[in-house]
Amino acid sequence: MNKPSFAALILITFLSVALPAFAQQAKDQPWMNRNLSPDERADMVLKQMTLDEKIDLLHGNSMPGWPGGQWPNWYLGNGGAGFVLGVPRLGIPIIQMSDAAYGVRMSAANGRYSTALPSNLASASSWDPQAACEYGALIGRELRAQGYNMTLGGGTNITREPRNGRTFEYLGEDPILAGTLVGNRIKCEQAQNVIGDIKHYAVNDQESGRNEVNSIIGKRAMRETDLLAFEIGLGIGHPGAVMCSYNAVNGTFACENTYLLKETLKGDWKFPGFVVSDWGGTHSTVKASHAGLDNEEPLADFYGAKLKAAVQSGEVSQAELDDHVRRMLRSEFATGIVDHPAQKSVVDVEGGFEIARKLAEQSTVLLKNSNNVLPLDASKIKSIAIIGKNADMGMVSGGGSAQVDPQGAKPPEWLEHIWFPTSPLKTVKAKAPNAEVQFNSGADPAAAATLAKNSDVAIVFVHQWTSEGMDLPDLTLPDNQDALIAAVAAANPRTIVVIESGTAVTMPWVDNVSGILEAWYAGSKGADAVANILFGDVNPSAKLPMTFPRSVADLPHPKLVYPPQNGRGPETGSVLTKPTFDVHYDEGLKVGYKWYDAENKPVLFPFGHGLSYTTYGYSNLKVTAGQQPTVSFTVKNTGSRAGFEIAQIYAALPASTDEPPKRLVGWSKVQLNPGESKDVTVSIDPKYLSIFDEAANGWKLVPGSYTFMAGGSSQDLPLKSQVNLP
Ligand code: BGC
Repeated sequence: MNKPSFAALILITFLSVALPAFAQQAKDQPWMNRNLSPDERADMVLKQMTLDEKIDLLHGNSMPGWPGGQWPNWYLGNGGAGFVLGVPRLGIPIIQMSDAAYGVRMSAANGRYSTALPSNLASASSWDPQAACEYGALIGRELRAQGYNMTLGGGTNITREPRNGRTFEYLGEDPILAGTLVGNRIKCEQAQNVIGDIKHYAVNDQESGRNEVNSIIGKRAMRETDLLAFEIGLGIGHPGAVMCSYNAVNGTFACENTYLLKETLKGDWKFPGFVVSDWGGTHSTVKASHAGLDNEEPLADFYGAKLKAAVQSGEVSQAELDDHVRRMLRSEFATGIVDHPAQKSVVDVEGGFEIARKLAEQSTVLLKNSNNVLPLDASKIKSIAIIGKNADMGMVSGGGSAQVDPQGAKPPEWLEHIWFPTSPLKTVKAKAPNAEVQFNSGADPAAAATLAKNSDVAIVFVHQWTSEGMDLPDLTLPDNQDALIAAVAAANPRTIVVIESGTAVTMPWVDNVSGILEAWYAGSKGADAVANILFGDVNPSAKLPMTFPRSVADLPHPKLVYPPQNGRGPETGSVLTKPTFDVHYDEGLKVGYKWYDAENKPVLFPFGHGLSYTTYGYSNLKVTAGQQPTVSFTVKNTGSRAGFEIAQIYAALPASTDEPPKRLVGWSKVQLNPGESKDVTVSIDPKYLSIFDEAANGWKLVPGSYTFMAGGSSQDLPLKSQVNLP
């Protein structure tokens, strides 16, 4: 990074003297009274601000690697993805933003440390709002410890297109599950006094041509799927910020889309915070301002001098400008970043490891367990083959702006494949100290098969790396790993496959292996979590938050739509005035399991599927109609181990609604000892039973017959009951 100029040094010296004086002066100002509401405080500050100070609040000031020259304030950044100037004389701090999808980004370049939690998709497999809360709280603490007061995490785009390279940053294919979990994550992250964020708003469902793609989708379909996840997340988490996405929706870029920002987010949902553009996702000044974009990142191409000129010429009214500024200030007060400034401190590494391990254990899905091959009994096993690229040293992670830097390594290059130093070979050896545990990288499938043949058990660790900025061509494991598994399984029927992936994978070998664990991108302590499950110290409880299809031919769009120009359009977004190609989401409401259900397509593993080392029985379903219907039933642990069952409730709406066959409407994670039964009662939010009525622009519960179903997965629903609602 360039050295600060002489002028910058003078300014730094001035600020170091002036800031404490400003701080003292600001402390006594009426808006520092914490008993006032964030709105009252924001209004008071707004009245004191000059036009230049207001404009300063509405744009970024560069990002790391782009210092100096035309971005005079670059040196005030904290090393994160961007920052917004404060108003020191009024006690308003700089907003220091960092990416923080599954941990705080760029810690290596900044000489810091961050915990890598399991990926967001992994965490969704826990179906656990409390786990989501712990996830958010850890990231909030580590952000503050590293001097940040705003997260850019909170990815919530539902899995409409499983080849999307960012699927691991999101929370699966169901809007109610994704929205509930992201809301709880944000709530607890923000409780640490950082501004929370939810992104990428909206229908940013593929990465190919993301800066120029036009997502075409009907209003009802959008509101009941992609947007519902945001609506629920906002309602639970109240994030201070919403990040609008790169793509266009129905012809207009998301960051200048009146329907998305002004009418839906700020109108229907009454979002009181600010809209921040994705990086380079702003395309205009006046149009974006009118549509409801409040803050341009990471620079000031449209919201610096051009916005000032538009205000001076009256094209953007003073009231509109003030609305943008008030929203920024309101979120700063509401999240406590003014009252509780971030202070750098040492990250609790051991504490983070502990949480990362626990969350990974709750996120690892046991997909298959023939003849109870798992858990492994260390006292009975003499030899174990550990097979797979890097299984001796680490587990793979997801790339892009979500990437967390592994401890003890240099800053990763953009799109470098990063393996976290969490070694399955070591953790398996520790569990089976008396067994011979040998490693083979799998580079030569024949050699791996020979090792497997001579071992009691073979465990194959396979990976599928994904990242922002790319989509997968299909869901096949790369690098010939299917052939490796086939060779190993042919040599030893006691083959267990552990998958490290960012989305679903296809499994041509599914019938030939005994056990399959989906570990996702498992984070800093993935290998400990996997070993604890393999050897039964932990009873798995996670369930899939997305369907695993049998083949990409079964997807709503077997072929991904790529941008023009030989499949690589300009990725520079900001200069485009309109999108260059369309993706028609004509499957509409039929996202994920709703598609396979409606089309009668068999799947590899259904949404909600996940095995345990015990078994559960369901009985006694009762549904009470009324304002807020309740569903109750009994779950019994019919096996011999204690465990947690994620009991799921689905509803089929009246035929007149023309909805897919069923939708998830609630769930409960129940802890049960062997033989124990518990009565579960879940009250169902009427919105989750409603359809979006475009004509009335609102949710409508259609009168008629509703069928409620309960059980252990979307395709294992032993209980069924019909009631008339409302
Ligand atoms: C990504 C965002 C990210 C931002 C800042 C963009 O390219 O789409 O998710 O927060 O960069 O790094």
